[in-house]
Amino acid sequence: MLPAPVWETNLGRLHEGDCLSLLPKVADNSMDLIFADPPFNLGKEYASKMNDSVADSEYLEWCRAWLGHLVRVLAPGGSLFVYNLPKWNLALGPFLMERLTFRHWIAVDMKYSLPIQGRLYPSNYSLLYFVKGPRPKTFTPDRVPLKTCRHCGGELQDYGGYRDKMNPSGVNLADVWSDIPPVRHQKYKDRKANQLSLKLLDRVVSMASKEGDSVFDPFGGSGTTYIAAELLGRRWVGMELDCSEVINRFSGLDSERKHLAEIHRNKNVLFTRDALEKRAKNGHADRRFRTELSIERAKQNGFSPEIKHTEMLSQFRLV
Ligand SMILES: C[S@@+](CC[C@H](N)C(=O)[O-])C[C@H]1O[C@@H](n2cnc3c(N)ncnc32)[C@H](O)[C@@H]1O
Repeated sequence: MLPAPVWETNLGRLHEGDCLSLLPKVADNSMDLIFADPPFNLGKEYASKMNDSVADSEYLEWCRAWLGHLVRVLAPGGSLFVYNLPKWNLALGPFLMERLTFRHWIAVDMKYSLPIQGRLYPSNYSLLYFVKGPRPKTFTPDRVPLKTCRHCGGELQDYGGYRDKMNPSGVNLADVWSDIPPVRHQKYKDRKANQLSLKLLDRVVSMASKEGDSVFDPFGGSGTTYIAAELLGRRWVGMELDCSEVINRFSGLDSERKHLAEIHRNKNVLFTRDALEKRAKNGHADRRFRTELSIERAKQNGFSPEIKHTEMLSQFRLV
């Protein structure tokens, strides 16, 4: 059994210490979703003062040691996500392929260092997605808004005659995620480097777990996984060498809740609110897309949502 947590909420328990010593105390098959974002061995300085610059072979051996435990504690049908540089995930993939079922290599589009002479500009992180057993017990991916011009709100791709056939809840999520904002560029960043975006964790937690499920992250950092789990009603277990940033972050849970509500406003919709406003101003509004808003308005005005969209739009403007 795990020792007493240093911090807990109604849903979560946070354990301070080395995950390699704590992990043997976690029961087999007990976690429905595991997210791991370890240090990348790039020589960064962490609050915990851990050594983030060791030989490649030592780093990979260490990763395989904790990954072995993660495989053991993952529940059947549970999902494991590992966020790392492509270089490390490439080397760790075969270890996981032998033990779990591969689902996806998700490329998270983000520039992560300065351009290096003689190399391509590194601009994606790898998010490995595996499940225990043949298929995931929960798979409810977000739908994402259409890409639109940030000036006029016009769609960037030509959807031709398919506009009115598009799902009003948005486009299918792909395995390249280009809509994850770097934390340093937004107002919620108030902690040290390596905090992941709440949008990323909201997406992962919503996709691969249900309310009441157990979510586990052995590398807490500033606690983004725990915040997402807490706000989405999942039980969670955390581990971190130095838990002060996580505890501190939970003191601002209300502002995290507001941030999540903002993220949710633009989730599972065909157009973001911002794009809808720009489209209305720039005359793009009454193209033939169905949107939640147009359907809602039609319903309020006595039209069934099944009504031909063109008819509906002749009566109502989109915005
Ligand atoms: C990349 S950060 C995680 C950031 C986190 N995903 C977030 O969004 O805030 C990695 C974290 O792992 C912690 N860590 C490193 N080695 C550890 C170990 N052996 N046991 C527990 N935590 C460890 C570091 O202190 C660091 O905070």
